Amino acid sequence: MKIALGCDHIVTDTKMQVSDHLKSKGHQVIDVGTYDMTRTHYPIFGKKAAEKVVNGEADLGVVLCGTGVGISVSACKVPGIRGALVRDITTAKYAKEQLNANLIGVGGRITGLHVIQAVIDTFIETKYKETPENQALIKKLSDLDHAAENQTGNEHFFDDLLAKWERGEYHD
Ligand code: RB5
Repeated sequence: MKIALGCDHIVTDTKMQVSDHLKSKGHQVIDVGTYDMTRTHYPIFGKKAAEKVVNGEADLGVVLCGTGVGISVSACKVPGIRGALVRDITTAKYAKEQLNANLIGVGGRITGLHVIQAVIDTFIETKYKETPENQALIKKLSDLDHAAENQTGNEHFFDDLLAKWERGEYHD
């Protein structure tokens, strides 16, 4: 697979280890930077990696910063990204299986390298489980991408979902 890989200056060393790991598994890495440990800003690289995924140059994206928070939030601002900050295998599996996540973020100074590698492997290898429920949830997420003007301050944006809840259409 083609993986877009981005990081900030705090974790360039970890990003390179991740890159080597991905290549050893036969993946193609599109490294969008940053490339050294000179002070920079994570939104630049979150956006770059996310755009590679959305425009189809990459199949999936992986982004890293110190905590993983800043760069994940940045990447998720790009319409079309379904991203998750992941620190464990269960979450990596859930993100792909249920929400067909196309990008994950990890904290290179929070999570150990072997766990990061296992998380990324799980994310890549897990198959999306296409069900009507998952499709409907993903559509709701995509609607948020396209409805920034409609949903900001719009108290009625989720009225249809709330009405279904009231009608007892949701069951666990
Ligand atoms: C450094 O900019 C640090 O804030 C960053 O790597 C990250 O931890 C943010 O979430």
